[in-house]
Amino acid sequence: MIIMYHNIKPWGRYLKEYVRMFNLTPDDLKRKILGCGDGPASFNAELTERGGNIISVDPVYFFSADQIRQRIHETYNDIIDQTQKNQDKFIWQEIGSVEELGRIRMSAMEKFLKDFSGGVVQNRYVSGELPFLPFSDKEFDLALCSHLLFLYTKNLSLEFHLKSVEELCRVSNEVRIFPLLDVNADRSPYVEPIINFLRARNRDVEEIKVAYEFQKGGNTMLRIC
Ligand SMILES: C[S@@+](CC[C@H](N)C(=O)[O-])C[C@H]1O[C@@H](n2cnc3c(N)ncnc32)[C@H](O)[C@@H]1O
Repeated sequence: MIIMYHNIKPWGRYLKEYVRMFNLTPDDLKRKILGCGDGPASFNAELTERGGNIISVDPVYFFSADQIRQRIHETYNDIIDQTQKNQDKFIWQEIGSVEELGRIRMSAMEKFLKDFSGGVVQNRYVSGELPFLPFSDKEFDLALCSHLLFLYTKNLSLEFHLKSVEELCRVSNEVRIFPLLDVNADRSPYVEPIINFLRARNRDVEEIKVAYEFQKGGNTMLRIC
């Protein structure tokens, strides 16, 4: 059995979802991007196909494509059951049902799995984990962190969040984090302490509305420069 970090399950989104979660402009997509905690999202595969410059970092990349596929299959039903039980916490507009959600996520993850082995060779998928990343200072123009920080408020401490945000700022000129909600679709109690912590260090921090909302109320990201 594969043991994953803090029991956080693999689940992957498409590039078009990243574009909306992070208000990514065509110019943003030309920047040198770090996808932190991208896991089995197809963001890296799709952006690379379009000629983008991206590295994804995630502890799951320590494993082979077959092992990651096995883990996805082991946890898939659990995630779908949980979503079914908590349907009222989501907006079922663009994605009409839990079944459709499952199909969309699986197809993004299949795209990732096809790209993974080649991407490892090209150094586009790097095994590593917050709060210490294997990159140099300001190696990236833009770091994106989707569905990890804030979402797993119950699993990851405030101290972990503070160190992680500092680390993302060390390796990248700009950092965007989405969502600011936890798994119960409640605003994470860490958001305000983190904003205060960053402002005290003279960082430019803004909460910005985005054109994506699947968890109810989850339509803002944190942007740190
Ligand atoms: C829910 S998935 C989100 C995947 C992708 N970002 C998306 O939005 O589709 C959370 C990911 O965070 C990764 N993760 C867990 N702990 C991490 C850490 N300390 N540093 C970086 N990634 C981590 C997991 O392996 C998993 O792939």
